[in-house]
Amino acid sequence: MDAKTKNIDPAKLVRVTFMPEGKTVEFEFGSLPWDHHGKPMSFLDVAENFGVFLDHACGGACACTTCHLWVKSGSEGLSEPDDEELDRMETAADVQLNSRLGCQAVIKKPGTYVVEIPSWNRNYVSEGKPLILAEKK
Ligand code: FES
Repeated sequence: MDAKTKNIDPAKLVRVTFMPEGKTVEFEFGSLPWDHHGKPMSFLDVAENFGVFLDHACGGACACTTCHLWVKSGSEGLSEPDDEELDRMETAADVQLNSRLGCQAVIKKPGTYVVEIPSWNRNYVSEGKPLILAEKK
């Protein structure tokens, strides 16, 4: 726990770790402003609030699968996937039992959450920001 989270009531603490980078963010449940990317309190919303890169080609509208992630821990504290998310997931690559769309999976209560961003979504990541590729000559 760092200085910023020291004053958070442990009963209200949300801790989200984004793997494989291992970046952990912590905040008080209900305190995060909606970043207008994905559903409020979705993993995409959390990532955007803290500058963690999670691809979201459709802007969080459940219209692509670039925000696909695997929930390693904390699934019991998440919203259930709705039909729209389930339909969209059928078009995703490498779907696993713990697959969710980062823009649709909403954190419903305080707790500890660990998600892994699949490798194809990480290819563009460099220190938390998309790489800008040099033009071919
Ligand atoms: S960002 Fe497109 S489905 Fe989540």
